[in-house]
Amino acid sequence: MSQPAYVIDQMISAKSIAARIEDLAAEIQTHFKGTNKLVIVGLLRGSFVFIADLVRELDLPVEVDFLEASSYGDSTESSREVRILKDLRGEIGGRDVLVVEDIVDTGFTLSHVIKLLQAREPARMETVALLDKPSRREVEIKATWTGFEIPDEFVVGYGIDYAQRNRNLPFIGKVRFT
Ligand code: IMP
Ligand code: MG
Repeated sequence: MSQPAYVIDQMISAKSIAARIEDLAAEIQTHFKGTNKLVIVGLLRGSFVFIADLVRELDLPVEVDFLEASSYGDSTESSREVRILKDLRGEIGGRDVLVVEDIVDTGFTLSHVIKLLQAREPARMETVALLDKPSRREVEIKATWTGFEIPDEFVVGYGIDYAQRNRNLPFIGKVRFT
């Protein structure tokens, strides 16, 4: 599919991301100290790089599972309607759960996923988002931990795509249409 021409301007360097993840991991580790039943629930596909780096900073016994919710398709606008495309493999009833999201934008995805998972009665459930665009919020929700608050820009890299591309960039960049 042909996309409009664009360039990518770096917004957050790989080094800043790594430093922030160390801090987030320390807070998460303190919060879940002593747990032996933690499941990291990664929201596919945008969070896969973040999860990979985050779990390697966590000195806790963790399991990793994935859930895929529908998002933007190939556009830069949220569809508002959230569908579950791939459910978890494991049960989370009575477990400690950490939901890992790439970006909280309108908030529809995270709030939908939280409601869905809450119904399965985990012992505890917290959320961590690498990025947050608070100015875009339409549903009142905030992740327990946030990596970076960013302005209303469409971003890519570090797992995050535009029309499935640019997930492999090691930094977060903003898309500028030319
Ligand atoms: P929400 O439901 O509007 O909060 O959207 C959350 C999802 O939309 C995120 O998990 C991303 O997959 C996607 N998304 C939001 N903003 C961006 C962006 O700037 N670039 C790429 N994907 C985004
Ligand atoms: Mg997503």
